[in-house]
Amino acid sequence: MSDYRIASIPGDGIGVDVQIEARKVLDRAAGQYGFSLQWTEFDWSCERFATSGTMMPDDGIEQLAGFDQILLGAVGFLGVPDHVSLWGLLIPVRRAFAQYVNLRPVRLLPGTTSVLAGRGAEELEMVIVRENSEGEYSTIGGRHGSGAGEFAVQESVFTRVGVERIIRYAFELARTRSGNVVSATKSNGIIHTMPFWDEIFAEIAAGYPDVHSEQCHIDALAARMVQQPERIDVVVASNLFGDILSDLAAAVTGGLGMAPSGNINPAREHPSMFEAVHGSAPDIAGQGIANPVAQILAGSMLLEHLGELDAARAVSTAVEKVLAAGEVATPDLGGKATTAELGTAIADALGGYQSDRK
Ligand code: NAD
Ligand code: IPM
Ligand code: MN
Repeated sequence: MSDYRIASIPGDGIGVDVQIEARKVLDRAAGQYGFSLQWTEFDWSCERFATSGTMMPDDGIEQLAGFDQILLGAVGFLGVPDHVSLWGLLIPVRRAFAQYVNLRPVRLLPGTTSVLAGRGAEELEMVIVRENSEGEYSTIGGRHGSGAGEFAVQESVFTRVGVERIIRYAFELARTRSGNVVSATKSNGIIHTMPFWDEIFAEIAAGYPDVHSEQCHIDALAARMVQQPERIDVVVASNLFGDILSDLAAAVTGGLGMAPSGNINPAREHPSMFEAVHGSAPDIAGQGIANPVAQILAGSMLLEHLGELDAARAVSTAVEKVLAAGEVATPDLGGKATTAELGTAIADALGGYQSDRK
């Protein structure tokens, strides 16, 4: 029997609530499919920051390095500036472990509705391949001057290696799906980095004659995602553009409570980290009403990455079964169920082995 060591970082706000449910479901699936998940929980969060002054210990990255994978709830809470909490935990983990692919698949599931009128479950399915290690998320720049003359400068960094590897990943992925990839760009307005991205995209596209490729300005692509989402399958985008498009893609496929995310280290030299696309949602934190599906589907991605493909599929099938039945749904899905009730219903839909987590 395989034992996997998984680092669990519930984090802040609803991150804590949804992670309990994902662990409940994953433990049940593991028991059924003959492996075990050995969880080690870390209390790294804004609460920790408030008492100790840091989001994680100085050797946090070394502590995580020995794990097979990481499951993250969400980080960020009122009282700690977001750039402090996120640059103190999430972003360093992504970078230290070369998790340069942020894979964000979305799909409208049977039993859920899209904000887009008249769209059926089979019509909305896409995946955002977001560059996750460089681009607009840089520390280069600063604030200068004072008073009315004060200004801030932020430099983006796009490296050939960084751009090539994410675009190539998207083309390889497109080959396993519809064979369509669209690059989100803004080369009409951002004159150094974006034409560079476009050029590399065109070079790589030439090596994939079997994949239909297209470059689309991010603004037009955002409109297409709402008006003609069926024309979109694999989207490759820079760090910031991919971030924005992934919330939009989530919104059109049932909401932020439904969208999982994997920070992938493709070489498997380091752990990958799985989380929801959404954040810690301070507006509903502590109420027990967050939708745990995004985190549970992130757990399914984690299992897939471990190579436990049957268990991964069983988890996503259990989610689909419960949502299609429509009896247990959190408020964002139009129901009255709590986070725990939906998590338990999904675990129970797996059937079989009963774990001791309730
Ligand atoms: P958010 O995703 O937390 O919330 C946006 C809206 O969606 C809120 O109205 C929230 O109630 C709703 N929502 C989100 N997830 C939901 C769920 N599972 N079920 C039901 N409703 C849900 O975005 P925000 O408000 O911009 O950010 C809040 C905090 O989270 C900030 O500190 C931000 O920096 C942080 N954040 C962290 C991560 C992460 O750790 N990966 C990701 C995004 C945002
Ligand atoms: C996400 C989040 C983070 C990001 C923030 C919280 C730094 O929005 O994971 O999508 O932009 O990467
Ligand atoms: Mn985001």
